[in-house]
Amino acid sequence: MAIQRGGFSTRLGFILAAAGSAVGLGNIWKFPFEVGEGGGAAFVVMYLVFCFVLCFPVMVAEIAIGRKTQRNAVGAFTALGHKKWSIIGYLGLTSGVLILSFYNVVAAWAFGYFIDIVMGNFSVGAEAFGGFVSDWVKVGSYTIIFMVATAYVVSHGIAGGIERAAKILMPTLFVMIIALIFYSLTLPNAMEGLKFYLVPDFSEITGTVVYAALGQAFFSLSLGMGALITYGSYVNRKENIVSSAAQITLMDVGVAVLAGFMIFPFVFSQGIETDGGAGLIFMTLPGVFQSLGPILGVVVGAFFFLLLSFAAFTSTISLLEVPTAYMVDEHEVPRSKATWIVAAIIFLVGIPSLLSAGAVDALTGFIQLPGKESAISFMDFAGLIASDTFLPLGGFMIAVFTAYVWRKENFNAEIAHGDESIKGSWLQTYVDFAISYICPVLLGAIFIVTVLDNFLGIKIINILLG
Ligand code: PFF
Repeated sequence: MAIQRGGFSTRLGFILAAAGSAVGLGNIWKFPFEVGEGGGAAFVVMYLVFCFVLCFPVMVAEIAIGRKTQRNAVGAFTALGHKKWSIIGYLGLTSGVLILSFYNVVAAWAFGYFIDIVMGNFSVGAEAFGGFVSDWVKVGSYTIIFMVATAYVVSHGIAGGIERAAKILMPTLFVMIIALIFYSLTLPNAMEGLKFYLVPDFSEITGTVVYAALGQAFFSLSLGMGALITYGSYVNRKENIVSSAAQITLMDVGVAVLAGFMIFPFVFSQGIETDGGAGLIFMTLPGVFQSLGPILGVVVGAFFFLLLSFAAFTSTISLLEVPTAYMVDEHEVPRSKATWIVAAIIFLVGIPSLLSAGAVDALTGFIQLPGKESAISFMDFAGLIASDTFLPLGGFMIAVFTAYVWRKENFNAEIAHGDESIKGSWLQTYVDFAISYICPVLLGAIFIVTVLDNFLGIKIINILLG
C-alpha cells in the first residue's frame, strides 16, 4: 500500500468510534421528531424491529467487508475482485456527502443554541426557532466552525484523532442523558409523554411511517453508505465482528430510546404538538430550561445542547471519514490535504440546505413531490433522497453483494476469523439467513414502496391496508 492508513489501537476504541458515529443527531434530534410525526409508539416498535432484524446483519456485512479488504467504501469492492460493485461505494459517497452537507447545518443549530444559552438567551418556541434558523449568517458561521473542527480531527487520522475524541465524548454523553431523564420525569404531564412514547396505536401505521422508520434505522446506525466499511477497514483482524456489531447496535438503539424518555416528558409538560418536525427539540427544550430559572436553566440548557453538539461531532467525523478514506486510498492524496478538500466541497454542497430554513423562499419551499401534502425544503429533500432512499438502497445492495457475489462462505469465514466460537452460534446463523433472504427481500420491497410513494404519489401500503 502506498500510503500508511493507520488503524484503531484497541477494540474498545473501534467500538466507541463506531458507536460515536451511530449515536448522533439521528438519535437525539431526528428520532424524537420522527416518532412524533409517525404517531408515537407504533413508530418506535417498527424502528426497533428494523434495527435488529434488518440493520444488524447489514452492519455485520459492512464491517466484514471493510475488515477483510482494509479499504474504503469504494476500493473494498474492487479489492474483493468485483469492481463493478464499487457502484455501491459511489452511491455511499454520494449519500455521505449529501448527509454531511445538511447534518452540519443541524449540528450548527445545536451549537448555536448552546452558545445562545451560555449568553443567557433562550430561544423559546416556534417563532424563535424560525428566527434562529433563518439567520443564515449566524448559522453559516457555526456551520463553518463545526466543519473545521471535524476536519481537524479527521486530518489527524484514526488512533490519534477519531479514536481519542470518541473515547472522551461517548461516555460523557451517556452520563449527560441519564441525568436529563431523571429531571424530565419529575415534570408535570411526564406520564402523558411516556404514554405517547410507549403505548402503540397501530392504526397510525401508513406507508410513509414504514419507510420513515426504515430510513431512520439506517441513518441512526450509520449504515448503507459504507461508513462501517470504512471504520471496519481500520479494525484488527483478531476481533469478533458479530459481537462488536451487536454492541454498537445496542448502544445506538439504547441512546435513541433514552432520548425519547428524555424528550417526550419535556414535550408534554410544555403542551407542545408532537408533530412539529425538525424543530421539535429546538422549540421544546429552551422553554423547559428557561423555567428552571436563570442560573440552573443556563447550566442544564447549555449542558444539553453541548451534549447534542458532542453527539453530532463524533458522527460528522465518521461522515467526513468516508470520502476522505476514498481519496487517501484510491487517489493517494495525503490524509490532511484530502480532509480539507473534501470538507470544503461538502460545505459548499450544504449551502442550499443552510439557506433552506427560511432565508431563501425558493429553497424553503423547494419542491412539491406527488407523495407529499405540501412543498418541502431543500434540506428535507436532501434527507429524503439520502437517508430515506439511498441508505436503504445501499443496504439492499450490500446484502445482495455479500450473500450472492462475495458469497456466504467468504463472508462467514471473515466473521469467524479472529473468533472461531461464533461458528454455528445462533447469532451467526441468523446473520447468515438474514443477509441472504430477509434483508434482500424486505429492503428491496420497502425501497420500491418508498420510490412509488414519494416520487409518484402511489401509496402502496395504504392501498394494501385498505
Ligand atoms: N448515525 C448518525 C446519527 O444518528 O446522527 C448519522 C450518520 C453518521 C449517518 C454516519 C450515516 C453515517 F455514515
